[in-house]
Amino acid sequence: MTNLNDDQVYLKGELIGEGLHKKVYSIINHEDKVIKVGRNVIEEVKKFQNLPDLTPKVFHIDEKEKFVVVEKLYVERFKIMFKKNIIGKYIEVNFRSKSYLRRLLRKVNNDEDINFIYEFKNVIITTNVKDIHENNFGYDKNGVLKCLDLVD
Ligand SMILES: Nc1ncnc2c1ncn2[C@@H]1O[C@H](COP(=O)(O)OP(=O)(O)OP(=O)(O)O)[C@@H](O)[C@H]1O
Ligand SMILES: [Mg+2]
Repeated sequence: MTNLNDDQVYLKGELIGEGLHKKVYSIINHEDKVIKVGRNVIEEVKKFQNLPDLTPKVFHIDEKEKFVVVEKLYVERFKIMFKKNIIGKYIEVNFRSKSYLRRLLRKVNNDEDINFIYEFKNVIITTNVKDIHENNFGYDKNGVLKCLDLVD
């Protein structure tokens, strides 16, 4: 249990996500938020605050206990879109070339996939994220694609 102040408490729920360096938990009675712990999470949310449209909203930073509370994203839908539409490695570098974009767009024939490719490109270029893989992005409740992992 985490005491925030006298009238607000975040209760850690189940583990819902895990990478090499960080763990992410649901929060009881806060369906729309997650607790994140692990390497450099405080530094990471500071980056999120500088890129508020393309990263999870930040609700709480506990510098002492070293955890943060951020907006929960829907990660499964992104995985499907990524597997369906993205080819190759070095995606960040490739997205800077027009020929890579043309190559991706050549394979698709519907607005949803076309929009995904452009939206994903914009998230990558704007956030400057280097660690690009299917587990590091998700959609917010309004369907906006965001990057959820911004620690180097
Ligand atoms: N805001 C969020 N909403 C929902 N799930 C999340 C959120 N942030 C992280 N996760 C889940 O937790 C996992 C681990 O988070 P994150 O990618 O930040 O950790 P990591 O240890 O740095 O990962 P990596 O192995 O890519 O370095 C993510 O892959 C994702 O499934
Ligand atoms: Mg990750």
